[in-house]
Amino acid sequence: MAELRTPPGTFDVLPGESRRWEALLGTFRKMVDGAGYGLLITPTFEDVRVFSRVGASTDVVRKEMYDFDDKGGRHLALRPEVTASAVRAFLQHRPSLPWKAWYAGSNFRYERAQSGRYREFHQLGVEAMGSADPDLDVEVVALGMELWAALGISRVDLLVNSLGDGVCRPGYRALLLEYLAGRRDELCEEHRDRLEENPLRVLDCKRPSCLAAAAGAPRQIDHLCAACGAHFDRVLAGLDALGVAYRVETALVRGLDYYTRTTFEYVGTALTSAQNALGGGGRYDGLVSAMGGPDTPAVGFALGMERVLLALDAEAPDDGWARARTVDVFVVDFSGGTGARDLTARLRAAGLRADRSFDGRSPKAQFKAADRSGATLALILGPDEVASATVGIKTLTSDTAQETVALDDVVGEVGRRLESVLG
Ligand code: HAM
Repeated sequence: MAELRTPPGTFDVLPGESRRWEALLGTFRKMVDGAGYGLLITPTFEDVRVFSRVGASTDVVRKEMYDFDDKGGRHLALRPEVTASAVRAFLQHRPSLPWKAWYAGSNFRYERAQSGRYREFHQLGVEAMGSADPDLDVEVVALGMELWAALGISRVDLLVNSLGDGVCRPGYRALLLEYLAGRRDELCEEHRDRLEENPLRVLDCKRPSCLAAAAGAPRQIDHLCAACGAHFDRVLAGLDALGVAYRVETALVRGLDYYTRTTFEYVGTALTSAQNALGGGGRYDGLVSAMGGPDTPAVGFALGMERVLLALDAEAPDDGWARARTVDVFVVDFSGGTGARDLTARLRAAGLRADRSFDGRSPKAQFKAADRSGATLALILGPDEVASATVGIKTLTSDTAQETVALDDVVGEVGRRLESVLG
């Protein structure tokens, strides 16, 4: 049988490398927890109709969704994003408002796989439902910026735009359509054929022909109704007040159809342009009602974990970020007995992180394993130590001699040493 490997666009994260993922998740969790967001866990697959409102005219839904009939004949889809699932969960459980949720998990899109673009990728995100207050937009946008600061990512541009709402968007859409219809021949083939369906998609097209055709197109921010204009002004004033730097990018429409008013994107300028969106989001004031619920304004964002880690690599490849030690103590046992089994159990019961070798390996091999483990201390059990109910103790992170402690005192001594070494 041919060697089995991960499917295209997917990857493994092995122990070691995964510590960076844990650290990213931990930093994010601390931040959103501190702002009153609670963890939301939803299924990885949903009724396909959950996602149909996300954007019938978008690639994400039209071309990239992993949908299938299950054995019971239900038409399901692996989620391509979490916002629609969060709205479905909101409608199903009707929590009290405002509802502030965060999430972390896999999403699936049948994309052309390349570095920074995968078929299974992982997002961290927040969704806040039940308030139209522009301060909530500011809170959400600023949370992402806080994360970059906490991670030490400095090369991020924040792009913001307003896409208007049900009052002013239709008029703008008609203007844009008229403008682009006059340049239909210049558009890429896909958008030439699908122009009427959603002319805003042309603004999201990166093909040079569409970029050129849309260069002088009317801009939504010049056609906002009074309420949307006031909302956008309040958002920008809020970002100014918090010292969050941004650039208004009038062509930012994002790749999903549900956005209203504020949209934004965090662009990692250390990454190559095709995959440099570290994350993005915006308001989706119409999605809850479009999915059959009451009028419920909402705003959120999602970040691509893979892209954030790539940005960290690009900015500080050798900073050792999040590469913490695996264990505190490594037990080296060449007494031939059960010492390692019992001592590691005692250490772990005392809350210490402890590991050991197995299979009766030579002292040399065990010391090598101890070094490789990154442990601060080694505890050594040879025949002499077992006979005298003692343990050898050695600090691996400095060049100090091995000392001997009584077996009964060893857990306390390990604690004291770790404190003095690690502070
Ligand atoms: P999105 O822009 O489709 O928005 O995805 C958010 C982020 O997920 C992107 O900026 C990117 O970092 C990452 N991402 C997307 N596709 C891929 C891929 N194929 N491979 C690697 N990373 C990827 C959303 O998903 C919205 N649900 C965001 C949102 C939340 N809007 C409101 N609330």
